[in-house]
Amino acid sequence: MEFFCKKLSQAKGTVVVFRPEIENLPKEEQKTALNVLVCLAQEIGFADLPEFSGREGKVHFSFSPSGREFLQVGLGKNPNLSALQKALALLVQTCSVQEIEQISLCVDGLFLPFQEAVFESVLALLLASYSFDEFVAEKKSKTVFPKTVTLVGDAAEVAPAQDIFSAVKLIRDLVNIPANVATPKFLANIAEELAKDFGFSCQVFTEQECEKMKMGCFASVFRGSEEPACFIVLDSNPGSQEPPLVFVGKGVTFDTGGISLKPAANMHEMKSDMAGAATILGLFRLLGLRREKRRLVGILPCTENVPGNLATKPGDVVFAMNGKSVEILNTDAEGRLILADGLCFSEKFKPSAVVDLATLTGACVVALGETIAGLFSNDEKLASVFIEQGRVVGEDFWRLPLPDDYQKDLKSDVADLKNMGKREGGAIYAALFLQNFVPENTPWVHLDIAGPARSKKDCGIIKVGGTGFALRTLWNVVQNYS
Ligand code: BES
Ligand code: ZN
Ligand code: ZN
Repeated sequence: MEFFCKKLSQAKGTVVVFRPEIENLPKEEQKTALNVLVCLAQEIGFADLPEFSGREGKVHFSFSPSGREFLQVGLGKNPNLSALQKALALLVQTCSVQEIEQISLCVDGLFLPFQEAVFESVLALLLASYSFDEFVAEKKSKTVFPKTVTLVGDAAEVAPAQDIFSAVKLIRDLVNIPANVATPKFLANIAEELAKDFGFSCQVFTEQECEKMKMGCFASVFRGSEEPACFIVLDSNPGSQEPPLVFVGKGVTFDTGGISLKPAANMHEMKSDMAGAATILGLFRLLGLRREKRRLVGILPCTENVPGNLATKPGDVVFAMNGKSVEILNTDAEGRLILADGLCFSEKFKPSAVVDLATLTGACVVALGETIAGLFSNDEKLASVFIEQGRVVGEDFWRLPLPDDYQKDLKSDVADLKNMGKREGGAIYAALFLQNFVPENTPWVHLDIAGPARSKKDCGIIKVGGTGFALRTLWNVVQNYS
């Protein structure tokens, strides 16, 4: 999808269903293809053009005063960011069905400042046109409609939106690529490419090196698989003395549950159990594309969780990098084990804050549903920056507690900790387990993205499979947290 921007004098303020400015937008160079004028119409009870209600989910074709083909897309009664995204996703769908190659669009006079509206529109159009067709012969992505979008607005808003899309696309692709291709080594290659393209440093530790560093929890997960595990460390600015923001991401490239095997139904969805790691790779891509100078470190323990003859057995005891012993009662609670060593490792960087991201618990999905992430934090300021920035970009985080007196349920009879608490409050116990490995006096936030990291169906700008959830929030936090 290509974007052209035209600066024209704009009508200010009022909600209008037809903006005369777009009449002046050129039909574009290509004479053969029709250039359809598009307006977003708010449902306001009465309509300037009486034949269209502006209702959400509705489109209406007619002709503009000068006789050009004119498409209205309903914004509904409550035009907010989510309504805008839905309307633009419907626009992309309509263009596909009607094979409309060129459109002209004006998003002035909406609820957002004009520049933001242009930025959000470009991003929403791109997100809505995403499809994952790497493994099929007929490439849907080859015939994206519309092909060109002429916008009233400032061209400066286009590139930042395209860069965010590029990062989200990387995350969605990595989550969607099957586990026989997206192995730990595959993720390490992506990290190395990012490092080469943008001048980051990238270290990839092997299983032996991880064992040498005493990452017993991580090792307890990778032992079961012959597919080699990797512990990836990206640093955007390795020479700097600046205390970095450290991001730790769960990179389980496939989670069978291990010896505590999962049921067969929907097990294929567990190829997405590396979404936390993928999101951090996306964040580094965005950092590079936007030339952000702030120092970030990404720590990505990547492995499969499968039952092999060397796999961890329930009841086994292992030692994390910080020396704490863990009795593994359920090998399916593997995410917290690999993150434990990831969190311990983060201490080396003397971080200003540590953020971990993981598709960690089914319990979090039970508690908050499929589109809201769980947020846990030991720091008020960090927690509120995430929640606030999440709200700005339309990603929902709901804070859950870290009750001290629940820690006793994680005490083991034979070790310092066990890797499972009670069934009730499962997401909380996972977070409390992680808290035992956070470097001392360090602001920390844990994001359980088990629900929103993937979607079961197409829904507006979200497509079935990986969503790229959290990338935009992380990006805004990087810019707003000091
Ligand atoms: N990867 C799963 C969590 C998950 C579930 C992610 C559903 C996305 C959708 C995780 O490793 C897991 O299996 N957790 C267990 C923990 C339990 C054994 C304490 C769970 O949530 O059931
Ligand atoms: Zn699991
Ligand atoms: Zn898992």
